[in-house]
Amino acid sequence: MPELAPAHFETPLKFAYWVPNVSGGLVVSTIEQRTSWDFDYNKKLARIAEDSGFEYALTQTRYAASYGADKQHEATSFSLALLGATDRLKVISAVHPGMWHPGVLAKFVITADHISGGRAAVNIVSGWLKDEFVNFGLPWLEHDERYVRTEEFIRVLRGLWTEQEYSQAGKYYNITDFTLSPPPVDVPGRPHPEIFFGGNSTAAQAAAGRVADWYFSNGKDLEGFKDNIAGVQASASEVGRTPKFGLNGFVISRESESEAKDTLREIVEKAHRPAVEGFAAAVKEAGQSTKDGKGMWADSSFEDLIQYNDGFKTGLIGTPEQIADRIIEFKKIGVNLFLTAYLHFQEEVADFGKQIIPIVREKEAELARANGTELNLEDSQTAAA
Ligand SMILES: Cc1cc2nc3c(=O)[nH]c(=O)nc-3n(C[C@H](O)[C@H](O)[C@H](O)COP(=O)(O)O)c2cc1C
Repeated sequence: MPELAPAHFETPLKFAYWVPNVSGGLVVSTIEQRTSWDFDYNKKLARIAEDSGFEYALTQTRYAASYGADKQHEATSFSLALLGATDRLKVISAVHPGMWHPGVLAKFVITADHISGGRAAVNIVSGWLKDEFVNFGLPWLEHDERYVRTEEFIRVLRGLWTEQEYSQAGKYYNITDFTLSPPPVDVPGRPHPEIFFGGNSTAAQAAAGRVADWYFSNGKDLEGFKDNIAGVQASASEVGRTPKFGLNGFVISRESESEAKDTLREIVEKAHRPAVEGFAAAVKEAGQSTKDGKGMWADSSFEDLIQYNDGFKTGLIGTPEQIADRIIEFKKIGVNLFLTAYLHFQEEVADFGKQIIPIVREKEAELARANGTELNLEDSQTAAA
């Protein structure tokens, strides 16, 4: 693993939360989840989040009922509405290449960016839920081919956001002399709306390294995350890019470690078994379907899949102090951002901001000093208001 630059230790970790825009909460379990997928709940949550030190929210894209998510709000429109309801939060909308033409999406995001003063972002996801594509009558590409299309898709987005009279000839898209006017908002230090990328297989990592600004990983332990970083950096370094890294984690922060573990146990005991098993079958379309069998959910147990992005593996479960320690362990190996989920979003996002972020900041300051530099909170949006 390449050594981390001093800038890594100077830059505070960023925090994001999963927008619960699909029903059923973020765990497929009948345990009580004080959360809701409706807009009013989400509007309040977004405001709480930006006042609690969260810089980003990530909206999910889902078109059809699936494993505990019977109802869904569409991601790009929901994201735009959340941008309208907030002042500082950056809202990342998940989008599937294959459902969108990249030129149409590029234009949509520019408009969202102008409406929000430069806070629009996208998470490009290549998809696993085959029925959504097949039942819409859209082509369902073989696994690695999905990433060929994704890579082209992202190149079109970036090209149209940064160049005039942009042309790109490829297998999936042909763009000729196209200028989008206006361009995205000119935000210092941001060449264009940020491009996140979710995918874990070998093909995903290779593509992300070449084109993504941010690589999002499903929940991982320390070793698992090191593997992910290595895979992405190997392809990024070939083209001189340095993507940043986001890691998913399900947070169970309680006064005592045993209380937190009891909550995890209850989530598992009350798992919605048929839904989790259905999900386990459907995700075989992801990395497991490839030659090397690597990828998201490829080594996930029944318990892991109850949080459908493997969020228990990250181990953000315990007291605030323990969770802050764990977060720092991940920062030491290169994580730049934590993507978090909760049972009771509004209350727990606020608690995370009050109880965990301040400890993380203290520990980050120590870590920075140990690495011969200082933590720079100055122009960070992440300092809690
Ligand atoms: C942080 C993150 C968010 C994701 N969000 C979505 C989503 O909203 N909708 C979706 O269909 N897939 C989503 N995915 C799944 C990806 O589409 C992809 O199927 C998955 O990462 C499997 O990748 P692999 O086949 O390369 O292992 C997400 C993945 C990650 C890591």
